[in-house]
Amino acid sequence: MDLVIGLVTDLHFGPEARFGGKLRKLTAQAPGLLRAFVERMNREVRPDVVVNLGDDLEDESREADHARYAEVMAILGELDAPVIHVAGNHDAVHLDPQDLVRFWGRPEGSALHYSVEVGGYHIVVLHTVEVKDVSVTIDDVQLAWLQAELEQSRSPVLVMMHHSAADQHLVGNRWFEGLPHICLVRQRARLRSILEASGKVLAVFNGHLHWNHLDVIRSIPYVTLQSLIENVEEDAPGRAAAAHGVVRLTPRRLLVEVEGAERARYQFARGSTGE
Ligand SMILES: [Fe+2]
Ligand SMILES: [Fe+2]
Repeated sequence: MDLVIGLVTDLHFGPEARFGGKLRKLTAQAPGLLRAFVERMNREVRPDVVVNLGDDLEDESREADHARYAEVMAILGELDAPVIHVAGNHDAVHLDPQDLVRFWGRPEGSALHYSVEVGGYHIVVLHTVEVKDVSVTIDDVQLAWLQAELEQSRSPVLVMMHHSAADQHLVGNRWFEGLPHICLVRQRARLRSILEASGKVLAVFNGHLHWNHLDVIRSIPYVTLQSLIENVEEDAPGRAAAAHGVVRLTPRRLLVEVEGAERARYQFARGSTGE
């Protein structure tokens, strides 16, 4: 079946934050960039579903984060398509899981990992947990849940998560060079083996690393999407990446188009192709 998915990540609504003294996240532009994304989706792309891969916030305080997360939900609420949300590390600093569940309109008491059936595809959302400067993990309970989800699914699966499950070579990454423990999930080898064993996973999408990166591991593509508000220049005043993705699935292929200042296209064949 054909399916079109809009992707956006690392919106970082919040105060200006410098990194090494340089302006690397264009947080002031976040609302405008998100509105432009929504407009393009509604007018041009018309996706069946949109996935928000997390870090909606540049965290500041409980009160400010609550107001800003509500602002993000209001802007994304203008989308004609339904939206699937993933929790990012910055979202979970001052907001607790039930705050996010309420914002997402999920049933009270729900977990931050869940799955949704969309147009003949099973979309699985994972919740990876970051302890600032220490680790990114996924626990055994969630891995067991994932395995059961994959076993039960009668549809091809797409996995959405905030951190990466790939073994990315991080040299050249502004934020994470030399710091795999705060961007790659510690249990990634086990996580990948669960995905591989199912034979059902078409692709895995994530944000967090603020760059475009593709890994293909044992035939599964792991796609990392650039941040919407990343400054593609070295410092202020800067130029926003305005990154977002469009995933186009047909029975024969999976096409990922990354739009914005740093464009990319990835195409993967599904099943037999050609004549
Ligand atoms: Fe981020
Ligand atoms: Fe993040």
